[in-house]
Amino acid sequence: MPIQPIAETMLTAIENELLEIVTRTREPDHDGLYRMLAYHMGWEGEDIGPNARGKRIRPLLVLLTTGATGGEWKRALPAAVAVELIHNFSLIHDDIQDNSPLRRGRPTIWKLWGSAQAINAGDAIYSLAQLALLRLEGTSNAEITIQASQILQNACQKLTQGQYLDIAYELQRGMNLESYWSMIEGKTAALLAACTELGALVGFTEAHIQKAYHSFGYHLGLAFQVRDDLLGIWGDSLITGKSTQSDLISGKKTLPVLYALSKNGPFAKRWEQGAITPDEIPALVTQLEVEGARAFTQERATEITRKALKALQAAEVKGEAGEALTNLTEELLTRQV
Ligand code: IPE
Ligand code: IPE
Ligand code: MG
Ligand code: MG
Repeated sequence: MPIQPIAETMLTAIENELLEIVTRTREPDHDGLYRMLAYHMGWEGEDIGPNARGKRIRPLLVLLTTGATGGEWKRALPAAVAVELIHNFSLIHDDIQDNSPLRRGRPTIWKLWGSAQAINAGDAIYSLAQLALLRLEGTSNAEITIQASQILQNACQKLTQGQYLDIAYELQRGMNLESYWSMIEGKTAALLAACTELGALVGFTEAHIQKAYHSFGYHLGLAFQVRDDLLGIWGDSLITGKSTQSDLISGKKTLPVLYALSKNGPFAKRWEQGAITPDEIPALVTQLEVEGARAFTQERATEITRKALKALQAAEVKGEAGEALTNLTEELLTRQV
């Protein structure tokens, strides 16, 4: 994805702050825990580098939002890294929950160290996120810090509600599309909405502008998850760094699948007969596309991205950061990773 110069500078600042927060907990008698965290963050182990670190979209959104309000983006760094740490905590646990072997092109933590250690590593990152956020007191003030904590914790609550639905729906039959939207609102859009809300909070914006940024992040988050569903089936595993089989094998109610189920064609007939095996996947993926599931999914992503851009307009973005936010939103719609 092409990155604007301002975003490049922000990404470097994010990485440094993340490293500092995570490295502070390093001590000789539990160095193994630090190594798990550093592995997951993409700093240690085999194949380290930008791909192993992930996109860092969420912290970037926080900083770009503060910048786009006309505020000093560096002041939002504690909130930015807190959100990225929450995201990474959720990924570590999500990979256990989804039985996913691959993340960012590398074996997942639970694959290498087992689920018990992976759960604990996720918990460690969760608590580091809270500590990271408290540093806002130094760059803003105590009142902003408490409000920020409220925003982040509410998003975490919603994230667990979304994950609950995602897991529960694996076994549920006769699901409607409405349930899908509340599931992804919780598991993904809530955190992206928190990113832009936090960015606006630190930028000391008026209430209606903060509301517009919240709406922007929320719609961006919905579109982001819809595109993730598409890439989870039609993406290139070498580029996404994730399995293109596990969603189908574990019976995930992704948007393409729900669409095809609502059509009640050959795909739905096969789905009703029980778990899908890896050897059936290529033919079923073709069938999904023939039934229009891929086109439907991308159309929804486009439609929701339009809403996100409209909200961004209402937020009256300023300067280079505002421009970068608009570009990023458009690029995410066709992202391959
Ligand atoms: C993956 O998020 C999980 C979803 C909410 C779809 P990202 O695609 O942002 O993951 P990384 O951090 O870049 O690997
Ligand atoms: C995304 O979950 C949301 C969270 C991790 C909380 P998914 O299970 O859809 O995302 P990927 O595809 O594994 O990254
Ligand atoms: Mg999941
Ligand atoms: Mg998953």
